[in-house]
Amino acid sequence: MQFPYVDSEMIPSAVSSEVVERAVAAAIAVRANAYAPYSNFLVGAALVDSDGGLHVGCNVENASYGLTNCAERAAVAAATAAGRRNIVLCVVVTGTPSPAAPCGACRQVLSECNPAMQILCTTPERADVFYRMDELLPHAFGPDSL
Ligand code: THU
Repeated sequence: MQFPYVDSEMIPSAVSSEVVERAVAAAIAVRANAYAPYSNFLVGAALVDSDGGLHVGCNVENASYGLTNCAERAAVAAATAAGRRNIVLCVVVTGTPSPAAPCGACRQVLSECNPAMQILCTTPERADVFYRMDELLPHAFGPDSL
C-alpha cells in the first residue's frame, strides 16, 4: 500500500512564510493549554494541511504516567478528526533553550501523514530548526511495508 495522502501539492516548498508564522503562533498559543503537571514540560504542536488548514494539539499527561499523549499525536488526531491527513508542516514548540525534536512515537505517527512534510522545531523565542520528516525517521515502517 502506498502512502495515500501524499501528492505533488505536499512538497515542503509549498509552505509560505506567512503560513509558517500562523502555525507557530497557533502552536505557541495551544502550548499554554498543555496539561503537564508531572513533567512541567509544556509542548504545543500545529499542523498545516495542504489547504492551509491548521490543526493543533498539546501534551496531556496522566497520573498513571504511561498514558501521556504527546502534542504532535494530539494534533494528528485533531487533523484526522477534521478529515485532513495531508499534512505539509508540523510546528513543535517547547520551552527549552534549544528546540526539541519530536519523540520516536510521534515521528512514526507523523510520518504516516506525509513522510516529506516539513518539521519546524522551535521555542517561544524562535530558535527555529527545520527538518524534513524522512530526515528524522529514515527508512520508516509505513503502509507500504505491510
Ligand atoms: N512530549 C511531547 O508532547 N512531544 C514530544 O515529542 C516529546 C515529549 C511531552 C510528553 C510529556 O508530557 C512531556 O513532553 C515530557 O516528556
